[in-house]
This record gives sequence, structure tokens and C-alpha cells, in this order.
Amino acid sequence: MTSENGTVSIEIPVVREPNTADILASIPQYSAAEKRAVEAEIKAELKRQNAVLVAHYYTDADLQRIAEETGGYVSDSLDMARFGNEHPADTLIVAGVRFMGETAKILNPEKRVLMPTLEAECSLDLGCPADAFTRFCDEHPDRTVVVYANTSAEVKARADYVVTSSIAVRLIDHLDAEGHRILWAPDRHLGRYIQQVTGADMLLWQASCVVHDEFKTRALGQLMTQYPDAAVLVHPESPASVRDVADVIGSTTQLIEAAKKLPNRRLIVATDKGIFYKMQQKAPDKELIEAPTGGAGATCRSCAHCPWMAMNSLDSLLRVLKTGENEIHVEESVRVKALRSTQRMIDFAKTLTD
Ligand code: 13P
Ligand code: SF4
Repeated sequence: MTSENGTVSIEIPVVREPNTADILASIPQYSAAEKRAVEAEIKAELKRQNAVLVAHYYTDADLQRIAEETGGYVSDSLDMARFGNEHPADTLIVAGVRFMGETAKILNPEKRVLMPTLEAECSLDLGCPADAFTRFCDEHPDRTVVVYANTSAEVKARADYVVTSSIAVRLIDHLDAEGHRILWAPDRHLGRYIQQVTGADMLLWQASCVVHDEFKTRALGQLMTQYPDAAVLVHPESPASVRDVADVIGSTTQLIEAAKKLPNRRLIVATDKGIFYKMQQKAPDKELIEAPTGGAGATCRSCAHCPWMAMNSLDSLLRVLKTGENEIHVEESVRVKALRSTQRMIDFAKTLTD
């Protein structure tokens, strides 16, 4: 079952993601006047319903801007969860992917949680079905189960701890110091990264992110040769060969912070290009360059933009506000168990000073 490097030979479902370009082409395009009218309606509905918009950095720039202009929030998955948990609104509108909406519901059962679309999956979540994962955990009862937030409520319910990329290294370092042996799921690249940094004993589930998996080392090397002064920023869901050349590895918020602080004027960024909106806003004097996903002769599938994040649009946001459809429900017995591991993440994050 276990190979020498701590990975597992369990069958991982093949995930077939939609094509990002097709998704974007299917979204209604508005004239400037129509867009103003749609945005005004969205803002009025948010106010009327005492609802707050919480958006991930990978979603459409218009949604991020509306979130900010209406007292909502734009952030990484940990801070989205924290913000939703602390905000007094009756309704949370979560623009992102399904696990983000479920996390909001796990933490806030009394709030109505809506999403612009319920079809916004994540290849890590899809690559870790609860039944196979439960069997795997049952085979390793001696291990502490730590899962990435990019998982279903059922998988979180089976876990001892949930983490996001912003605190994963520190939580596992802490558990390792306490003598825990870890079972990690689902992202193999992030798991391997944590293992390398902490030296913890970890068994790794083998799913991956369809966006970050596509960054290409050789083409990235060429770009680095072309721009020798550029710093390379990498999300830890990227393969080891890409992480190996990084100047900074971090969660989306940590990469934005690095973009602000680094002295380099040029930055090569290996994560979903939705982040460029906020990164450029926070680091206006920097030139941001997309890390390559294609390379010579190759074609990219997501082209560095998550197809499921791309499903969040002005159109789907207004529709959900008008209809109240796409509400997130989590079965109560699952929610209560998932809350235990998710609350541990929130509580652990509170103990960290930065
Ligand atoms: P962050 O927690 O860094 O925002 O990552 C979430 C995600 O889905 C990255 O692909
Ligand atoms: Fe999941 Fe990757 Fe999309 Fe993030 S970018 S939501 S990890 S598929």
C-alpha cells in the first residue's frame, strides 16, 4: 500500500475538468451601461437581503471589486472562512468553489450560504471521494488525519484537522513536534512540500490541482533566463520542479504580500491568473508576468485559470441574489463532525502571530 517516499497506491479518480475558455465564452457580455445597471442591482440586493459577498482572488475582477465596494471581502481560503465566521450578515454569498461555500456553512449553520453556481468544483475535492478516503483512513488508524480545505464536508468530517496552504506547514510542524504521524490528503504536491519543509512522517493522497499541475519547468526556466532580475512566486500546489526555482512559496495572500515587499520590479507568478487583479492593486509599481503553462509546442488546458472559479460571473451572482437558489446545505451529522476539524484550523490560526 505504501511506497518508500510516503505516497500511497490508492486509486485516485481521473478528474475531467471543463475547459476554461469554453466557460468564459458562455458568460454573457455586457455593454458598459448594462454592466453598470447589473452592478447596481447586485449592490441593492446585497443591501436589501443583509447579505455580504466573500470572494476568492481567482474569481472575476468585477466580483472582487463589488465585494470590496460593498463591505465584503476578497482573500485566500482561510481568511474567507474567518471573515464569514465573524461577519454579522444573515446571508453569505461565497464566490469561489464549492468547498469554500461548504466551509462557510460548516462554520455558520445559522446563516444562509449561497453561491453563484453549485457547479464550481475543485479537482482536489473531486480527486478525493469520501468513501475511498474513509477506507484509506481506516487502514491507518495510528495516523493523525490532516486534510486540505479543498475537500468535501464528508472528508473534513473524517479528518482530525483541516488546513489551508497559508498555515499547513506550521500546523504539521506543530503536530510533528508532538510526535504525530500524519495521513495527508488530497494534494500530493502540497503534501510533498510540507514533508520536505517539516521532515514529518506523512502518507500522501495523490490528487492534484488541474491549474497548478500545468506549470511547465522548462518554459519557466526560459522565462527566467529572459528576465534574470525577476523573482519567482509559486503556490505550493505546483509541482516540485516548479517549487524548486521559487523565490517565494506561499498561499495566495502570502504571494500578494511578497509581491508588495520584494525589491524586484519584475515578478513571475505561478498561480491562477485571477490573482493578478489584487496583486497589481497591492503592488502597482511591479510588472507581473504569468508563469508558462504551455511551453513550446504544448497546449494548456486551463491556461492558468481555474475553470470552476471562472463560472462565477456578474450574471450568475445577480441570478442567485434574485432567486435565492444555489443554497449550500450540509447534513447536520456531517457538519458537526466537520466543524471539529475545521474549528481546529481556525483556532490554530489564532495562535499564530503573522
Ligand atoms: P489559497 O488558500 O492559497 O487561496 O488556495 C486556494 C486554492 O484553491 C488554490 O488553488
Ligand atoms: Fe481547486 Fe485548483 Fe481550482 Fe484551486 S485552482 S479551486 S485547487 S482546481
